[in-house]
Amino acid sequence: MILPEVLLSEEQILKRVAELGKQIKDDYNGQELVLICALRGGVIFMADLARQLDPLTTQLEFIKVSSYQGQESTGKLVFSGDIAMDIEGLNVLLVEDIIDTGLTIDLLIKHIMAKKPKDLKVCALLNKNKVKHIKIDYNGFDIPNNFVVGYGLDYNGKYRNLPYVGTLPY
Ligand code: IMP
Ligand code: MG
Repeated sequence: MILPEVLLSEEQILKRVAELGKQIKDDYNGQELVLICALRGGVIFMADLARQLDPLTTQLEFIKVSSYQGQESTGKLVFSGDIAMDIEGLNVLLVEDIIDTGLTIDLLIKHIMAKKPKDLKVCALLNKNKVKHIKIDYNGFDIPNNFVVGYGLDYNGKYRNLPYVGTLPY
């Protein structure tokens, strides 16, 4: 197997996740918070991030969407599993792996806002920095416009469990 070239090491990622966790903890300051993970890419990030937060006030939810095939966005978002809990009146933090074109986050925000949360904020580990019209409240890393894998991100379903973020040599 060809191992991806390291863009962000495991150490760099975990350090940043701890910083984001501390910031989120301070900002919500004991208030109830529902984290919604955009599956499948957000799963590793959310697992690490959630463990930085207060277990007495944090709940975990999941929503499943996809827009990618190989290295290209299909431009069409498919919802294949909605959240189960009622989030009306609750603080929600949407946890995404990466913001590329912004299509996914745009649709997810609309979808979640329709459920009338008290507040919705967005946390993304990676940002290719093309999207200016959406506020990313918690941003892990700005990265170049290359296709990346690892730490949740896949190429045709593979590499999600790579502990770092890397680029493929093709
Ligand atoms: P967007 O809708 O174009 O912003 O893309 C967001 C989604 O596409 C992310 O949640 C990822 O699942 C996927 N994606 C975008 N860029 C990459 C990448 O470089 N590697 C792997 N998946 C990506
Ligand atoms: Mg994703």
